Amino acid sequence: MANLRIASMVGARPNFMKIAPIVHEIQRTPGIEHRLVHSGQHYDQQMSESFFEELHIPKPDVNLEVGSGSHAWQTAEVMKRFETVVLEWKPDVVIVVGDVNSTLAAALVAAKLGAQVAHVEAGLRSFDMSMPEEINRKLTDAISDLLFVTEQSGIQNLRNEGVASERVFLVGNVMIDCLVEHRKLAAKSEILRRIGLQKDGSSARGYGLLTLHRPSNVDDPEVLRDILSTIAQVSEKMPVFFPVHPRSLERIRQFGLGSYLAEEKSGAAAGGIVPLPPLGYLDFLCLMDHARLILTDSGGIQEESTILGVPCLTLRENTERPVTVEQGTNQIVGRDPKKILAAAARVLESERRPVRAPELWDGHAAQRIVRILLEKYRPELLRNATRESPHRS
Ligand code: UD1
Repeated sequence: MANLRIASMVGARPNFMKIAPIVHEIQRTPGIEHRLVHSGQHYDQQMSESFFEELHIPKPDVNLEVGSGSHAWQTAEVMKRFETVVLEWKPDVVIVVGDVNSTLAAALVAAKLGAQVAHVEAGLRSFDMSMPEEINRKLTDAISDLLFVTEQSGIQNLRNEGVASERVFLVGNVMIDCLVEHRKLAAKSEILRRIGLQKDGSSARGYGLLTLHRPSNVDDPEVLRDILSTIAQVSEKMPVFFPVHPRSLERIRQFGLGSYLAEEKSGAAAGGIVPLPPLGYLDFLCLMDHARLILTDSGGIQEESTILGVPCLTLRENTERPVTVEQGTNQIVGRDPKKILAAAARVLESERRPVRAPELWDGHAAQRIVRILLEKYRPELLRNATRESPHRS
């Protein structure tokens, strides 16, 4: 019986924590040959390599080294280079995760060459086609054979788009698998001490944590200035740490908005918006876990804060992850300064709510995914495994 050949594509920072649990589960499963392909969309130590080291992701078998560029260029370059890999290695299945340009590029190549495409984190919709990620999600889902979904809204979205239900599976959230696995280790991070906080994250006033990188928030000078000036007001109540994404740093410099930021080395003592370099996974998880308040335009952080039980204000007009609002601690506040300030004030006055984990966000999503892949494409392997080890569920 032939092994199941799976190629997985990763490209940008939010892909790495999603692929880690899947790769580890594949490594534990006999009968699967796996190749990990890195598109090189994110390429530097802070945005890519540190995640491979901390999350014990094996070194990619292939690095396409595309780097940065316009969307068309980046997507096309990943496609050209990934096509060679698929033609040479002939995977049965290509796994793509999330919604970045590398996700769509790999899915398109695989679908055209007749490989099965499995999309992890399928079905999420912001219904905002000005977001490049929304275009990537819709197109990737349209050509995927298996759609692995994190929350009920995704099931409903795919149903509304006419996707056959046999292709759709609610499996939970691999990003939460990664969080569950690393939370204890993250608690040992030295980051709190490095930025001038007590080991348990406490300071007289607590602290906020800001991330910002969406083109709609950082590419327009007025919009970015308004956001920074609003967060600066929040930071009068407590320091707000801001690990700055390279795209945002470039814009802050270009638009001359550096005066909204405190000195990086000033740490918690000075207050204000304290910039930090992009952080590794464990440091960032530790900072999130102890924060009083998170302000973000990221997708993944809305999910992580839900499980950590930390109040999250999402600086966007919509979310593709509604369960984080319905069950989690997330509020969609957009960019209206009044709304942001009122929501932040309410959070600071109230007690932390108990965590309500969405359905199947239990740390076992990757197991479900790999099992479904075997059931679909190599059911005989599962039968053999059950015969050899009757206790394996
Ligand atoms: C990409 C994803 C977005 C994801 C985000 C997380 C798409 C369409 N967008 O956006 O969904 O939330 O990653 O980070 O795929 N840069 C570096 N070092 C790196 C990588 C990038 O300095 O390792 C710089 C680039 O030179 C460029 C900027 O960051 O100026 C943007 O990188 P890019 O990958 O094009 O898009 P992101 O904005 O990061």
